[in-house]
Amino acid sequence: MKFRKLGNTGQQLSAIGLGCMGMSFAYGPADEQESISTLHKALDLGVNFWDTADMYANGENEKLISKVLVPNRDKIFIATKFGFRFKDGKASHSGAPGTYFDGSSEWIKQAVDQSLQRLKIDEIDLYYAHRIDPNVPVEETVGAMADLVKAGKVKYLGLSEASAESIRKANKIHPITALQSEYSLLTKDIGKEILPTIRELGITLVPYSPLARGLFSNINEVQNFGDDDFRKSLPRYQQENLENNKNLAQEINDFAASKGVKGTQLALAWVLNQGEDIIPIPGTKRIKYLEENIAATQIELSASDVETIDSILKKYPNIGERYSEGSMKLVNN
Ligand SMILES: NC(=O)c1ccc[n+]([C@@H]2O[C@H](COP(=O)([O-])OP(=O)(O)OC[C@H]3O[C@@H](n4cnc5c(N)ncnc54)[C@H](OP(=O)(O)O)[C@@H]3O)[C@@H](O)[C@H]2O)c1
Repeated sequence: MKFRKLGNTGQQLSAIGLGCMGMSFAYGPADEQESISTLHKALDLGVNFWDTADMYANGENEKLISKVLVPNRDKIFIATKFGFRFKDGKASHSGAPGTYFDGSSEWIKQAVDQSLQRLKIDEIDLYYAHRIDPNVPVEETVGAMADLVKAGKVKYLGLSEASAESIRKANKIHPITALQSEYSLLTKDIGKEILPTIRELGITLVPYSPLARGLFSNINEVQNFGDDDFRKSLPRYQQENLENNKNLAQEINDFAASKGVKGTQLALAWVLNQGEDIIPIPGTKRIKYLEENIAATQIELSASDVETIDSILKKYPNIGERYSEGSMKLVNN
């Protein structure tokens, strides 16, 4: 396993982490046994940076992970997030009508204790605000997060989908170690202003959905997605973008095949290639995919490979937004 440094902490993390969300939520039926086996395999193969959130299946994802985390606590760097809440207590995704965001200091105090209880640990390694609450000054949110560091409940602080301005304000209250934002071949909106800002401040980028939610391998299966599959709500899987995205996926897969790899591996290699200060967290609930994703850390992309990828992307511009309209209002705030 290759390792990368986390911000200014001196902590070494595996060059790719493991996104655990899909083990309980969002991308088709859960299979607890397969997920537990995947977590053990990750541990065996040195993937020591695991990502979850309190909202993933309303805490069930944290509980699942704790089964492997607790007996291996010293080997795993665990990140979780707070802020999304459900109006009627019924678990759903971030864009659902009953879901809202709460970055208040009152909620943070409760949320951290609930995550610690579900994870069955004393301290969270990296605690993210899942979004920036437009109704709460970021200084209040991060001030409350800093209190958790003082209390020994949390080691490092992170933000998710924060704007450059919010990151600067937050970093004045307490050092921010990581920014977790969507970043992939298909989602590059942080590239212009946010990525240069975090580089200036020594903050690591943790790209989520670095495989574009598996689009390169699953776009042809959209008709088989269940009713509760989150991807059904995403513009990139809607009728108006399907043909573009199927053709795009096909060409990326063909180019990947010419290099002896899969399209998902090429997509991950592209993200890893953007800098040593980037630690993507591809999500999977399967050992096979985990192994393929780890193998992608060995792929070297030449300048000509990058040019070919860019030219394919240019050929198919009609990819669609990364989230529904409601969810887009909560990103890069
Ligand atoms: N901060 C945020 O707001 C936010 C938002 C979304 C996600 N996240 C975090 O980021 C993590 C990763 O993002 P993500 O899961 O949304 O998207 P992703 O990593 O881009 O893609 C996950 C999808 O790709 C499939 N996949 C994974 N490896 C594959 C391979 N080698 N070949 C073919 N398909 C493969 C997975 O299938 P299977 O499910 O069948 O394994 C799943 O459907 C999540 O698990 C979560 O922890 C954070």
